[in-house]
Amino acid sequence: MEKNIDWGNLGFGYSKTDFRYVSNYKDGRWDSGIITKDSNIVLNECACVLQYAQTCFEGLKAYRTADNKVVCFRPDLNAKRMADTAKRLEMPPFPEDRFVNAVVEVVKANIDWVPPYGSGATLYIRPYMFGSDPIMGVKPANEYQFRIFTAPVGPYFKGGAKPITLRIPDFDRAAPLGTGHVKAGLNYAMSLHAIVDAHNQGYNENMYLDSATRTKIEETGGANIIFVTKDNKVVTPKSSTILPSITRRSLMYVAEKYLGLQAEEREIYKEELSEFKECALCGTAAVLSPVGKVVDHGKEISFPSGMEKMGEVTQKLYDTLTGIQMGRIEAPEGWIKEIG
Ligand code: PLP
Ligand code: COI
Repeated sequence: MEKNIDWGNLGFGYSKTDFRYVSNYKDGRWDSGIITKDSNIVLNECACVLQYAQTCFEGLKAYRTADNKVVCFRPDLNAKRMADTAKRLEMPPFPEDRFVNAVVEVVKANIDWVPPYGSGATLYIRPYMFGSDPIMGVKPANEYQFRIFTAPVGPYFKGGAKPITLRIPDFDRAAPLGTGHVKAGLNYAMSLHAIVDAHNQGYNENMYLDSATRTKIEETGGANIIFVTKDNKVVTPKSSTILPSITRRSLMYVAEKYLGLQAEEREIYKEELSEFKECALCGTAAVLSPVGKVVDHGKEISFPSGMEKMGEVTQKLYDTLTGIQMGRIEAPEGWIKEIG
């Protein structure tokens, strides 16, 4: 049944859709999993996730295409990344093929919540898992729950394609041998103070530096970063402490193979910021959000693309990536998973 929602005015937020997927891990195995209407979780007061933050998550989207199919984008890479995260957190990985099947199942169950083609909204899919049994001494849980819920969403940053302003914070996101490269809940817990502080000071987000030398650009709290050089090369930070964004990996491929641009992953120094002509955040939630300005302790670095619209190359990347996701442009083999 069609949902009565003002799709065009959705922000990036939670709303409760009809169904979610749940599987429990106990006695060394995942159960067969169910689709349920129950959006609440009852946990013991000493559950490992509550005491020691043993939790991780993923994010991907379902899109309605030009010919009214429902698809999602490279869910196999989310499955793999979640398994990598689980291992780093001493959690039992949820089998990757079952992850993809569960995404398909939960989107099918919520198919009426997938926003219409052209509305600007999409159905955000949030897989996550956590240690659920009581744990007192510091050690991993014995029991886990894996869940997936969905929620229709609009742009992550208010204003959509309007350029945003980042600041270089006096906080670090990830330690050199820490968990920055996986999608652990704890990475986000420790970013909350930095994001509130950035907002209080009038900035949209933080542009984190590498914590070992504080000289190199890493990423923001929820997205990777790409830059465009004056000679139209697309560059992105290479670092072992940033999350390997699926959007960023896809954009680098699109830049090379669809747009004929050079694309390079390399260390990027803060000193180089003023040499770029465009900058954007990339991620599932952020899609490709243009950055107009970075403020480094009072010093403003404004990109030539300005504060009014996306830069030219960013726009081409955006159009091509979203064209692939929405079925307007042919996708590389294996990128699109049809759901219904
Ligand atoms: N970096 C961080 C810290 C994130 O939380 C996300 C979001 O998932 C990304 C980057 C973007 O990754 P992806 O493109 O796979 O969504
Ligand atoms: C995503 O892009 O899916 C994210 O998880 C980013 C953010 C909302 C934490």
